[in-house]
Amino acid sequence: MGKVYLVGAGPGAPDLLTLRAAEILKRADIVFHDALVHPQTLDLAARADKIAVGKRSGSHSTAQKFINKRLVDAARDHRVVVRLKGGDPTLFGRAQEEIDALRAAGIDFEIVPGVTAATAASAELGVSLTRRGFARHVVFVTPRAAKGEPENDWATSVLAADTAVIYMGAGLADAISAELIRSGKPKDTPLALVESATFFERRVLLGTLADLPELARRAGSGPTVVLLGAVLKAAIAKPAAVAVEDIEALLRQA
Ligand SMILES: C[S@@+](CC[C@H](N)C(=O)[O-])C[C@H]1O[C@@H](n2cnc3c(N)ncnc32)[C@H](O)[C@@H]1O
Repeated sequence: MGKVYLVGAGPGAPDLLTLRAAEILKRADIVFHDALVHPQTLDLAARADKIAVGKRSGSHSTAQKFINKRLVDAARDHRVVVRLKGGDPTLFGRAQEEIDALRAAGIDFEIVPGVTAATAASAELGVSLTRRGFARHVVFVTPRAAKGEPENDWATSVLAADTAVIYMGAGLADAISAELIRSGKPKDTPLALVESATFFERRVLLGTLADLPELARRAGSGPTVVLLGAVLKAAIAKPAAVAVEDIEALLRQA
């Protein structure tokens, strides 16, 4: 029986992978990966079969059940099985369903954390999400619920938080802005929309809560987080950090 590693690939740039993740990828026999994982990250798993299992958000739960089953089956045939997920595997990544399936089948697993989109975005913006005197409270929320999932009270969480990071919200920008303003969040709350953080084509749009629908219309089709709260007043559209081209060489030096 093999072991399954739920590994965070980070937000995009391949050199934001952890050393632990890189070492496990090198030993991997088989890798099941999300759609947006950088090709250089996948290249580290030189000896592994690589299988794309990316789902679009809101997809039907059978797709997830199929992935769970494939992980269990793979652990019966391989020693090192990797489930490589964008960002951190435990945030909005349906990791628990995979963990539950592995536990039920008596398969050993380990989680390797990754850089999540919220912190990648704060780096792009040059702001601290918990700036002293402004924010002691950060929430990560998504208004998106899969079919059949109960509604969640995301707006109350955003209202109560000093800083909020909204995942998977760009397609719902009109509804998010209207709901938060209706619930009492000031229209002029500083806001940033960060698309494709840490990717070469990343984009930062700054404004207020009232501007969110317009900013979302100007954004592209890449993965996007929306950040809001007083700390965003200091946000700047920083020049993109240049990702290291050759992560193999970087790892040799490490
Ligand atoms: C299914 S969730 C996975 C989140 C991931 N596990 C994480 O920790 O970042 C996908 C959402 O994460 C956000 N996201 C992921 N990568 C991003 C990036 N590079 N830039 C901006 N947002 C990103 C977007 O809101 C996207 O719709």
